[in-house]
Amino acid sequence: MFDVKAFVNVQIGKIKDQVKGKAIIACSGGVDSVVCAVLASKAVGDDLLAVYVNTGFMRKGETEEVRCMLNDMNVNFKVLDAEDEFFDAVKGMNDPEMKRKAVGERFIRCFEKEARTFGAKYLVQGTIAPDVIESGKDGKGVVKSHHNVGGLPKEMGLELVEPVIDLYKEEVRQVARHLGVKMSERQPFPGPGLSVRCLGEVTRDGIGIVREACFIVEDEIQKAAKAGKMELPWQYFAALLPVRSVGTHNGKRVYGRTVVVRAVLSKDAMTAKCAEIPFAVLRSISSRITDKMGDMVNRVVYDVTDKPPATIEWE
Ligand code: XMP
Repeated sequence: MFDVKAFVNVQIGKIKDQVKGKAIIACSGGVDSVVCAVLASKAVGDDLLAVYVNTGFMRKGETEEVRCMLNDMNVNFKVLDAEDEFFDAVKGMNDPEMKRKAVGERFIRCFEKEARTFGAKYLVQGTIAPDVIESGKDGKGVVKSHHNVGGLPKEMGLELVEPVIDLYKEEVRQVARHLGVKMSERQPFPGPGLSVRCLGEVTRDGIGIVREACFIVEDEIQKAAKAGKMELPWQYFAALLPVRSVGTHNGKRVYGRTVVVRAVLSKDAMTAKCAEIPFAVLRSISSRITDKMGDMVNRVVYDVTDKPPATIEWE
């Protein structure tokens, strides 16, 4: 059985041994990075700076939410606005691996800059076991390059510190509960954010659509779960497909975009089952998306695939 208390003590000791001086932590506000921020701050105190990057690929209201959370956590932190840089980094790219690598590299360049200013030589990351497994080893067996592993550039001026690298999500949540982290049950969100939910080329319009669609999916599913109509899935979101189809909006023909709704049950993200969402909830999601964005989106579909053969995200 996983011994949370022992794990926490061992990791704090290991961070103290490894980090000689200042460190920054890449903090997205997700459970993995927040747990690492708490562990690292217990180990090095004020020698830690938490850096949250607003890539422009975050969900609705997320940057403000994370800012408030970091404020309450009693750690040094900085919120970086880097939207233009990230949009530029993926401009013209259609290939999912190229997009992931471009985002990974941009993240590191941002962290290197902040580390230089803060005088840090170490980068703490919330990498977990599935990120490493799916990113493959030496270019072999890659399913997708997670931004914090296979997406890292070869030349990097920072030494990595990865306290939860051997854990799966459920174990990280146990550590979070033990440390009193408020958002221990927050659903996973990929590091490259909405850029991998906007299939094909990433545009500001596309990100705007998928951001609103993700918000509607989260809101409708959470409302339904609260009302006892369904169990909350492990992860649930929308992606924007590069498929157009014919429809109508306010009596006019629209050659519009397609949104796919994805919801899965999983324990460790290595495998997943498609979640059974009540049809009425799917209908509400579809109506809300097309009512709000009917001039752009005229079709909403539901993904009923398990992992494998699919992955959870579409890219
Ligand atoms: P897939 O799509 O590979 O996703 O079945 C498994 C889990 O990992 C999340 N995910 C990521 N997390 N960096 C992350 O930190 C990434 O690059 C990344 N890509 C996918 C995904 O949302 C799911 O929970």
